[in-house]
Amino acid sequence: MQLHSNLVVLIFILVNSCLAVKDYLFKSCEQNGFCHRNRHYAKEIESDPNFKSPYNVIPESISISGGTLKGTVVKESVETDIRVEFPFEIGVLGNSFHFKLDENREHNQQLVNYRRYNETSNWAFTDGILSNTEAKFSKHKGSVDVLYKTHKVSIQFNPVKLSVFYKTKEVLVINDKQFLNIEHQRSKENNEDNLLPQESDFNMFLDNFADSKNDRLPLGPESIGLDFSLKQFSNLYGIPEHADSMSLKDTKGKEPYRLFNVDIFEYETDSRLPMYGSIPFLMAVRPDVALGIFWVNSADTYIDITKDKDSSVHWISENGVLEFIIIVEESPKQVNEEYGKLTGNTQLPILSSLGYHQCRWNYNDIKDVLEVSSKFDEFEIPYDAIWLDIEYADKKKYFTWDPENFADPGHMLKELNRTGRNLAMIIDPHLKTGYEVSEQVISKGLAMRNNDNQVYYGHCWPGESVWIDTLDPKSQAFWNDLHKTFMISDEYKNLFLWNDMNEPSVFNGPETSAPKDNIHYGNWEHRSIHNVFGLTYHETTFNSLVDRLHTQRPFILTRSYFAGSQRTAAMWTGDNMSKWEYLKISIPMVLTSNIVGMPFAGADVGGFFGNPSKELLTRWYQAGIWYPFFRAHAHIDSRRREPYLIGDPYTSYIRDAIRLRYKLLPVFYTSFYEASLTGTPVLKPVFYDYQSSGDSQIYDVEDEFFLGNSGILAKPITDEGATGVSFKTPNLEKENFYHFTNGVISDKIYQDGFKAELSDIPMLLKGGSVVPMKARYRRSTRLMKHDPYTLVVALNKNGGASGELYVDDGESLSSEFKVLFFSIDKHGVRVDSTGDCDSPLEFEKIIIVGANFDIESVSSGKLAKDSNKVIINNPKEFPIKFELGPSRHDEL
Ligand code: NOJ
Repeated sequence: MQLHSNLVVLIFILVNSCLAVKDYLFKSCEQNGFCHRNRHYAKEIESDPNFKSPYNVIPESISISGGTLKGTVVKESVETDIRVEFPFEIGVLGNSFHFKLDENREHNQQLVNYRRYNETSNWAFTDGILSNTEAKFSKHKGSVDVLYKTHKVSIQFNPVKLSVFYKTKEVLVINDKQFLNIEHQRSKENNEDNLLPQESDFNMFLDNFADSKNDRLPLGPESIGLDFSLKQFSNLYGIPEHADSMSLKDTKGKEPYRLFNVDIFEYETDSRLPMYGSIPFLMAVRPDVALGIFWVNSADTYIDITKDKDSSVHWISENGVLEFIIIVEESPKQVNEEYGKLTGNTQLPILSSLGYHQCRWNYNDIKDVLEVSSKFDEFEIPYDAIWLDIEYADKKKYFTWDPENFADPGHMLKELNRTGRNLAMIIDPHLKTGYEVSEQVISKGLAMRNNDNQVYYGHCWPGESVWIDTLDPKSQAFWNDLHKTFMISDEYKNLFLWNDMNEPSVFNGPETSAPKDNIHYGNWEHRSIHNVFGLTYHETTFNSLVDRLHTQRPFILTRSYFAGSQRTAAMWTGDNMSKWEYLKISIPMVLTSNIVGMPFAGADVGGFFGNPSKELLTRWYQAGIWYPFFRAHAHIDSRRREPYLIGDPYTSYIRDAIRLRYKLLPVFYTSFYEASLTGTPVLKPVFYDYQSSGDSQIYDVEDEFFLGNSGILAKPITDEGATGVSFKTPNLEKENFYHFTNGVISDKIYQDGFKAELSDIPMLLKGGSVVPMKARYRRSTRLMKHDPYTLVVALNKNGGASGELYVDDGESLSSEFKVLFFSIDKHGVRVDSTGDCDSPLEFEKIIIVGANFDIESVSSGKLAKDSNKVIINNPKEFPIKFELGPSRHDEL
């Protein structure tokens, strides 16, 4: 919740509580100087057929050495007296095209760093990225080509334009529309001579937006804008975070998508307003090609999209170097892989973080925590982590415990540990003034500074606060020490952390955040680093936990994030509402996060604000079991709604849903393992595997998804009163999908819509899949460790199936592991494996559907038949050979 200091504003909120009341807090493109100016520039150019871009490459500037092409773009206009040079560099990283352009600026004795911020990639990129040494360059008159793999990028000099070819076909043209705009360094005094006729000078040196009037804009206008024309692409995805559809919309005549990390109070659905996190990565897909644009910039950014047969994307950022990555591959999966090579893949989570998380603001004291915990056991509902929101700390001073209500945290942790449970607790970046931690932050010079270079004081939960500047490398050691001393003793390893409010949220700050002219380490303005601040914070926390836990995988949930956050944290979609439309929108939001390489994502189950009806809560749990991060959470003013409080039949339905999540944990873990290797989604949109199915509707399906590569296709019910469901299954003539509602396999093949009562979780299983499950109820993930597996096998039309299972100790940063590959056909069941873990696994059951051959006996285990299912109980040895009966089909 956001408490705005301005009383007038507060009254306005209350009076208008049923309107779209929060928009006024955030700048629209029209109100935001740099966006306004870039849109204006684009409009002028579009309406002038004779426009000649002032940006050209100086041919003599081109030099090539060591896999890098260097050159200079000049901005030159005869009408005015402008001549500015911008050095640029081009290279190939892995199979990605990398472009970076800077400005040679004059040192102007400002307090703030006068350069364009060029360190976003230091935060976003992972270590050890290799330049592609095979890349070749060839110079021509008026252009230069970069050649790598099956790609060519042709850089035309006059006017500057980049054409990207994939397998000889042009797929992308950069600066096709000539929207390239680099607001060069200038002063207020000489600004008039520095304006192109197409430029507007709106708010170049001042900000007239109500809440940011004090922004000094010390460097004046410095924005960048560039357009990308995507040839024959009309399906565009990514650029979270927005509470909007998975498929990006045309923004002509509307607000652009905005990336600017903010604490958005009671956000609305169907909106392109900014939210808590930003990933400036856009993916475009057509049947034969997938393309990624990664705009490497951490400043306030707007994105205009024009959708057509050829779509166009116009990126506009407030400042920073002009840096982007282009990835062109055949499939979305390959694009994810390349993007993952640059920004890193999701860390393989500690297994217990994939279980169910029980949170609310707040559990009042230790007794409350332990009572809730034991109620879960009484009602036989599994859970893995109970969460403490801000009230656990003494007067919201992080790294302290409330002396009355949390007097003996060690006891609480020990008790939770007995049943394999974890405690997750919140630590925010704002630190209350007047206590040891904030005082040290100030005395060590680690606080974010204001535009006068003094410690910045603002308001957040604890009242007056300072903010730790986690851009400063010195903050790491300090943070490490705090975590070490606070986290009681090394015995208690069952602590998870929650980094909230790290946009950063500042209650009395402009647009609910820090003033843009605040100053960080390196004298960079907050303006330049705003969108990456959240990442610097949770990454510093991650390193502190590694430092403390040594070998155990840390778990951190972050609200604010950027490209690269996937390496160290999970995210959730913030403060949603207990309304059906928020349940519905959570699915495309989580899918979008998966598309952009951040698969460990979820939404508050039940909705944060308000009180859900019993039906909504039940349906939300049934949907929530699919979120890679599965947590229920509720606002402090909402009624208690732990699943056992709702009453039957709802409690039973919710229990069944949570238990199904636990049964499927081996599948989730295996999917995360794959994501950690390849950067591909855990919740996979349907278009991924059916990109070239010829069915164009598949690209817009945002209410159903596959669970990794398991073959499980799920479609949560998100409509009030719905009693049925209809899947958009692709390729029905070629593939068979079996009914798998509630995780119970049936030999019935999906034809069309079917009934789904409130007790039902609709799902299908694609023929050809082997799903490893753990069927027994346990209180927590850790207690399931030695449980045997059940294999659910759905045969494809050729009578075969295959599947994978990843196993390790579930918690070490580097542990022995094993990957099992199952394959089944009329001859039997084979298991192949790789990895170095020797501990044997136990299987208690194999259930097979869709066999059109008759198994008479099996070489291991006990054969049973249940209507059209074949069941092998207690198979001990693999391979299992099938002896077929007389009615076997000869064609097999
Ligand atoms: C805002 C977070 O989004 C919410 O989940 C949390 O409960 C409150 N902060 C209080 O910490």
